[in-house]
Amino acid sequence: MSVSTAKLLAEVPDLAEHEARRLLLAAAGEQAPWLIGRPQVDAATADRFRGLVGRRRSGEPLQYIEGSVAFGPFELQSDGRALIPRPETERLWELAVGEMTGTPAVIVDLCTGSGNLALACKLSFPRARVYAVDISAGALDLARTNRDLLGLEVDFREGDLFAALPAELNGRVDLLISNPPYVAQAEIQQLPREVREHEPLQALVAGDRGTEVLARIAAAGVEWLAPHGVIACEIGESQGRDCLQLFAAYDPRIESDLAGRDRYVLGRAR
Ligand SMILES: C[S@@+](CC[C@H](N)C(=O)[O-])C[C@H]1O[C@@H](n2cnc3c(N)ncnc32)[C@H](O)[C@@H]1O
Repeated sequence: MSVSTAKLLAEVPDLAEHEARRLLLAAAGEQAPWLIGRPQVDAATADRFRGLVGRRRSGEPLQYIEGSVAFGPFELQSDGRALIPRPETERLWELAVGEMTGTPAVIVDLCTGSGNLALACKLSFPRARVYAVDISAGALDLARTNRDLLGLEVDFREGDLFAALPAELNGRVDLLISNPPYVAQAEIQQLPREVREHEPLQALVAGDRGTEVLARIAAAGVEWLAPHGVIACEIGESQGRDCLQLFAAYDPRIESDLAGRDRYVLGRAR
């Protein structure tokens, strides 16, 4: 039995039309052009669509339901094991790449989540050895899946920041990039429900101040960077001033996102 596409979409007036269409495509396992000129879908697709609508109504992010998200040149797998890569993090990658004067031999991405930054850096610098660390085994499983789908070579390691890196990298890292957790404990309630209830808290919250993980990266990074190596981190919009102090050893500067908010700290080892 088939079901009218128009009627199906009309069942969900509470969702934005583009979301309803994307859920229907996800239910059908198809891409956008498939819906054009398709007045009917089969009953199994309609059932799956209603199931996905239920998940969306419970606040689950669209990207987790669809199972993928665009990041820079890639379409990455995305699910509740890791933070959804954000457009502002694409800017961190662009800034970091623009900061490199030569070809880096060693790149480290701390707090890699889905592997987005590590994979994008490997694409920019194919000859670099790229290491990426996360404390979450689930996030690393997802990152390794993304790596294998893209066919890029990145060494993903589980552990607490620098502790997961091979000791031989000490003093030899040309680019240290990170989008770490930077939300303060007390700010969790101000996050959108969709984020707070569905994305991993470990990916968001750093501690009472919000700058705890950034502070650890800044303090230990000095030892790991090669002479003149670049450090580039995403930060919270109110953390620019604190980060200038935390990263003082790198002659830091703060960069803003497209909305003009302070969102990145960049610097260079002496
Ligand atoms: C803000 S998410 C960023 C994920 C990804 N880099 C991105 O841009 O979407 C931070 C990540 O840091 C990881 N993390 C938190 N504390 C960590 C620690 N001490 N050492 C390593 N990874 C950590 C979390 O598991 C999470 O995947």
